[in-house]
Amino acid sequence: GDLEHLHRRPPVVTIMGHVDHGKTTLLDAIRKTKIVDSEAGGITQHIGAYHVDVEHDEKTQQIVFLDTPGHEAFTAMRARGTKVTDIAILVVAADDGVRPQTIEAISHAKAAEVPIVVAINKIDKEGASPDRVKQELMEHGLVPEEWGGDTIMVPVSAIQGENLDGLLEMLLLVSEIEELSANPDRLARGTIIEAHLDKSRGPVATLLVQNGTLRVGDAVVAGATMGKVRAMVDDRGERVEEALPSFAVEVLGLSELPSAGDEFECMAEEKEARAIANSRAADQRETRLQQALASRRV
Ligand code: GTP
Ligand code: NA
Ligand code: MG
Repeated sequence: GDLEHLHRRPPVVTIMGHVDHGKTTLLDAIRKTKIVDSEAGGITQHIGAYHVDVEHDEKTQQIVFLDTPGHEAFTAMRARGTKVTDIAILVVAADDGVRPQTIEAISHAKAAEVPIVVAINKIDKEGASPDRVKQELMEHGLVPEEWGGDTIMVPVSAIQGENLDGLLEMLLLVSEIEELSANPDRLARGTIIEAHLDKSRGPVATLLVQNGTLRVGDAVVAGATMGKVRAMVDDRGERVEEALPSFAVEVLGLSELPSAGDEFECMAEEKEARAIANSRAADQRETRLQQALASRRV
């Protein structure tokens, strides 16, 4: 509403592209050049997301990378009608060009109305031809900005760490145009990006906060489960008391395991959270029962 306090939030970025074009190498390279391995968990901490600090417009700004493969993130988004990604990096190997999964990635991002920044990767390789890649992308509706279009295409070498800063700059530029905002002064909501059962700690879930601020002690409903946030660890392995919009944290305290892609929401009262979770669990049981009965009838 009008009284909401909207603040800029960092972009949440995923990476897509054809097999072996360098998605993992690029994510790792950005992570290694930008994060000093000195803090508690350092870069060994792995929660399915990480943020980097980038100097831009004389300020330090953040970018959050999800290491969910882009196509999975988009499939989950389509299935649930939610949006976890603000910008998609489309990696295209400069020595291989546009391939079937490149085209698939373009249509996913377009359907989800997520802007694409192209990383033309492997420019160090013999036979690399960024111009050929641009021409091929034009045939699929992506016109490079320097040729009069509106798609930013950045030549990089993930393996040599070349022009990663240029890529990060462009992500912030696109993020500015998108005017991404959120209200940190409300109860958090967002999406579960990963969950697993830890023998000693119980259900451990990684939550991407998309609006509001998540705090230790908050009552949270996630899919059909709920709990009170007992402890949180950020993407650098540090214990934290709160998580702001666009950041991901590992959360302890849920009573059962939620599913990746489930939405979560914090409630003012724990009993409210329990009531919602119970009613969703009942709905799920009913759906399963109906499915079981339907399969017997055929
Ligand atoms: P999948 O996850 O299997 O789809 O592959 P990917 O897109 O994650 O590619 P990955 O990062 O695994 O890289 C594939 C191969 O390309 C590896 O052997 C990398 O070392 C190599 N590679 C990645 N980036 C570069 C680069 O900039 N230059 C060169 N020469 N090789 C690269
Ligand atoms: Na690979
Ligand atoms: Mg990979």
